[in-house]
Formats: sequence, structure tokens, C-alpha cells
Amino acid sequence: MDVPGFRRFYATVNPGLEDVAVREIGSIVGLRLIETYPGFISFEADESAIYLLNLGSRTIHKLILTLAEGRITELSDAYRVARDVSYLEYIGRDQSFAVRAERIGVHSFTSVDVAAQVGQAVIDSYRAETGVRLKVDLRNPDVEVFCRVREDRIWIGINTSGESLHKRGYRVYDHPAALKPTIAASMLMLAGWRPGDPILDPMCGGATIPIEAALISRGVPPGLYRRDHAFRRLIIFDRESYEKSVESLLSRINKEVYPIRGLEIHPKHLRGGVLNAFSAGVLDTVDIRRGDARRLHRILREPPSHIVVNPPYGRRSLDVRRVRRLYYGFARSLKLLGGPLRLTAITAAPNIFKGALEKHGFTVIEDRVAKHGDLYTHIIVAALE
Ligand SMILES: C[S@@+](CC[C@H](N)C(=O)[O-])C[C@H]1O[C@@H](n2cnc3c(N)ncnc32)[C@H](O)[C@@H]1O
Repeated sequence: MDVPGFRRFYATVNPGLEDVAVREIGSIVGLRLIETYPGFISFEADESAIYLLNLGSRTIHKLILTLAEGRITELSDAYRVARDVSYLEYIGRDQSFAVRAERIGVHSFTSVDVAAQVGQAVIDSYRAETGVRLKVDLRNPDVEVFCRVREDRIWIGINTSGESLHKRGYRVYDHPAALKPTIAASMLMLAGWRPGDPILDPMCGGATIPIEAALISRGVPPGLYRRDHAFRRLIIFDRESYEKSVESLLSRINKEVYPIRGLEIHPKHLRGGVLNAFSAGVLDTVDIRRGDARRLHRILREPPSHIVVNPPYGRRSLDVRRVRRLYYGFARSLKLLGGPLRLTAITAAPNIFKGALEKHGFTVIEDRVAKHGDLYTHIIVAALE
């Protein structure tokens, strides 16, 4: 059933964490879910989702306003589907545009071919309606037309986010193995952690997990740090609806202090984590110190209810022995500290990690695959009673 005022969108998300994103989107705006694929969610929601999700979502990467969907078996289908759309409502006569295309599946054409066809279709459709030939600017367009081909389906839409929303804008220190903030936020949602529950990231690096925990606790919309959302340049930008969205998001912010801690063994990363937390405006509620995750039983007086952590993975075979020693030392230290506690971790060495946990009395509750960059990692949730 069509809901009046609802528009169709799709969001790109971390593959393997679609369900978390759907729940989060549903908690921010009313949504009617259409379908999900790895890394992709199609749904309908009120047009104000453009502002509420770009500013408030912690789990999505890009929010695309869907203009057309169709079947594609050959390249000319991309032109046909895109040519049927009227772009007048979305691109101003003196605005420039660019087409960005993504393609998943086996096809006889490339994503560059698709972008060229869709670009031509946009120009032809606009010229037929107005007589104006739109300008193409591949570097810094006013409007990005997004085109996604998956197997025999094609979606065409307008990018309302600009750069991926995982780029929060607070990171001043780039840890060499930094976690995407959208994955950190999703892990916190999967952990069953709630603001106010004591939480520790004992290998916190650039402090992404503690910072995201602090932003969630304080109700700070992560998009508030950004001034470059693509929706600002669109002619459908509705300042009144935007300001209402900002007001409603700002009204939920609090300045309380929460029990959020980070430990890091490496002084350089420790300094970087402190700088990031300062830049995010949460240093007053995130306690980051130097410490060894294998000696938690000597550092902490009592177990935090939640540990959420992104330990080193060891990507070279040489590192495997070191990773094993670290994981077993960490799990042993938690056992000595005692429960009850819930541990949520992301690792590309899941068998070693689960082996270490099970040897030290943990029960694994969930193990799911989630893609981080090019790596298929596992998010493991475990409990120690
Ligand atoms: C994958 S990185 C964490 C990155 C972090 N999540 C971020 O987004 O910046 C793992 C971190 O664990 C730290 N580490 C390794 N062994 C440790 C130990 N025994 N105790 C504490 N930290 C440790 C490393 O120095 C590294 O910074």
C-alpha cells in the first residue's frame, strides 16, 4: 500500500549488517522495507528521511533517492530505464551533474559503459523537456546521479549524502587499522549494550568504538560534524524540513558523563585516540589510558558489563602465532577478572578467537560475517557468566 508523502530510497550499508541498519533506520523514521541485498537496502519513507538519516544514522553509508528501477539484460536497457525519468524536479537548468555507476554480477558491459548510457539518457530526457543541455562535471558536480546494477536489476537515483557517511568528520588521527565508524556503531547495537552500561574497548587504537559509544550515549547525531551533505545542493532541498529535523535531533542531545573506557598499549595510537575523542567533543566522557588487554585482571577492579573490541587480526602467516598468544592472553585475563560480561569483537581470525574464548569459559552467542573493506571479518558476540 502506498503511504502518502512516502518516497522510495535505497541505502548502501556494510555487507552483513543490513538487518542492523534496517532496525536503526526504522527507529529514526517510519519505513516500509522493500528488499535487502548484501550491502543494499531498499525502502520507502517520508521525504524528511533525507535530513533525518543523513544527519542521524550511524549505520548507513549513502542514502539515494530512487527515481527508477528496472530490468537490465543488455546495455541499452540502462539507457531505456534512465530515459523514462523526468529529471526536472531534481536537477536545475544551470546545475551540473555526473553519473556514478556500480555493478555487481556477470555482464557483457562495464560500470563505465553503464554510466555513459545513463549520462546520455539524462541529457536527452532533460533536453526533450526543456531544450536545455545539462552540463556534465565529473569532478565536482552539483548533482550525482547514482546507478546500481545488480544481476538483472538496475536502480537509478540521486545521491543525497555526498561522500559516504562513515566519514564522520571527527577523525584527526588515522589509525593504520581503523575500524569504520558505521561498523563500530553496528557492533554496539549488536552487543545489547545500552547507554549507561559500563563499556570497555581494551585495544582501542584511534578510539572509534569508545567515541561511537559516547555519541550514542549523548544522542549526538553523527552527521552534525559534516557540512558537505549532497542534499544541500539539490533543488528539492527543503530548508524548513531540514531545520525541523535538526531541531528534533538536537533536542535529544545530553551532556551527561558515561562509563566508557578505552585501553591501548601503543603510545602513538593512545595519543591519536585521545585526539580523536577530543575532536569528537567526547573526551570528557571517554577515559582512554595506556594498558595491556592481557592484564585486565590487574587493571580493573570489576568487569565492565560490556567489552566491544577490534583486536589486531594478523594478516600475514607470520603473525598468526602472535595473534594466538594475544587472543589467549586476553581471554585468560577476562576469565581471571570474572563475569558476568558480554564480549563483542570483530576479527578476521574467528577460529583462533572463538577457540580462546571457549577455552576460558565463554559461550559464543552469535557469529556473523561482515565485510570490512576487502576483508570478510566475523563479528562474534560471547558471554561469560
Ligand atoms: C585493529 S586496531 C584497533 C583500531 C581501532 N578500532 C580504531 O578504529 O582505530 C588494534 C589495536 O590494538 C592494540 N593492541 C595490540 N595488542 C594490545 C594489547 N595487548 N593491549 C592493548 N592494546 C593492544 C594495537 O596497538 C592496535 O592499536
